[in-house]
Amino acid sequence: MLFFPYPKTKREELFDRENELEDVIKAVDMGERLILILGPRRLGKSSLLNVTLNEIEYPSIKVDVRKTYSEFSSVNRYVIGRMLLSSLSGRKRLLEELKRNVKGLSVSGVRVEIAKDFSIVELLEALNEYGRFIIAFDEAQYLRFGGATRYDGILAYAVDNLENLTFILTGSEVGMLFDFLRFEDPRAPLFGRYHHDVVLSRFSRDLSLEFLKSGFREAGMRIKEGELEDAVNTFDGVVGWLTLYGYLRVARGLDHGKALEEVFREAKAIVESELSRLFSYSPRYKVILKAIALGYSRWRDIKDYVTLKLGYINDSNFSKLLENLVKSGYVEKRGGRYYIFDPMIERIFKEG
Ligand SMILES: Nc1ncnc2c1ncn2[C@@H]1O[C@H](COP(=O)(O)OP(=O)(O)OP(=O)(O)O)[C@@H](O)[C@H]1O
Ligand SMILES: [Mg+2]
Repeated sequence: MLFFPYPKTKREELFDRENELEDVIKAVDMGERLILILGPRRLGKSSLLNVTLNEIEYPSIKVDVRKTYSEFSSVNRYVIGRMLLSSLSGRKRLLEELKRNVKGLSVSGVRVEIAKDFSIVELLEALNEYGRFIIAFDEAQYLRFGGATRYDGILAYAVDNLENLTFILTGSEVGMLFDFLRFEDPRAPLFGRYHHDVVLSRFSRDLSLEFLKSGFREAGMRIKEGELEDAVNTFDGVVGWLTLYGYLRVARGLDHGKALEEVFREAKAIVESELSRLFSYSPRYKVILKAIALGYSRWRDIKDYVTLKLGYINDSNFSKLLENLVKSGYVEKRGGRYYIFDPMIERIFKEG
């Protein structure tokens, strides 16, 4: 179902995105070693990744690094090692082989134990020996919290030496991901490495309309043109919200107005928990978002608003905070001005 409100896994559930899908699949087929799927939240990165892994002929493993980090407050080698291995639990023979070749690994039945001397690099080397293998890290910017485990170095080693492996990384905090991978820093392990980037952008108006029409057609529901137009205007091409809206109308039978309000209510809960980490670093983020939501888009005007509300802040500190919002994907910079990317977040800050 097109309006199924979870990351999609099958090609037929994925609306449009054909070019992006072909792009990733072709890169995998060509043996490229590092592929990035990029774009702000709720644009369908996980869906594109899942469908890709489903479509390609090679074996793959996927770790949701954001989920892992929020569950274990760490992504050290034991945590990530365990996640990688647990997604291999159906492959008995491979696991046996890995047990023979990777130190610190014991497997009994479906249980995997990892001891102190376990090394991710050894695991990757063993997978590389096995043959072509695709390793995906969803929301890879969280790998920066590896502590003593330096994933940038591990990735650089693998990209340079393990010719059978392809890594696919997704990132919604695109700037954070690039800060972590540091392709342009001569002192960084991944400096100058080639990476194939696939960038997801929001749906155009036409595509958003077509998406809603297809979804309602599939569900056998007729919806007034004016309501479709209104939804398209409200969700501004963010497929995650369009999907939720459609789902609420189809599965919960809500009318147009109720569905809009319910999406907003759910968005508020989701966004509050997403942003709480950021706000714990600095309460100023909230005021900056508020300023932008109110329509201030120039650096100077946003800063004046923040100063008025919270008192003096020096230019470079303010710039850093604003830049972090851009790097996290919440704010986009267009033509030297700043805008909130997601229309639901904009409304939350305008009203709240
Ligand atoms: N091309 C698509 N066709 C149909 N539904 C889609 C498509 N892309 C995304 N969706 C739906 O939109 C929602 C968000 O998609 P998904 O979780 O894949 O996005 P994401 O970019 O990974 O989001 P996040 O950054 O929050 O992890 C899901 O409910 C998914 O089913
Ligand atoms: Mg995702």
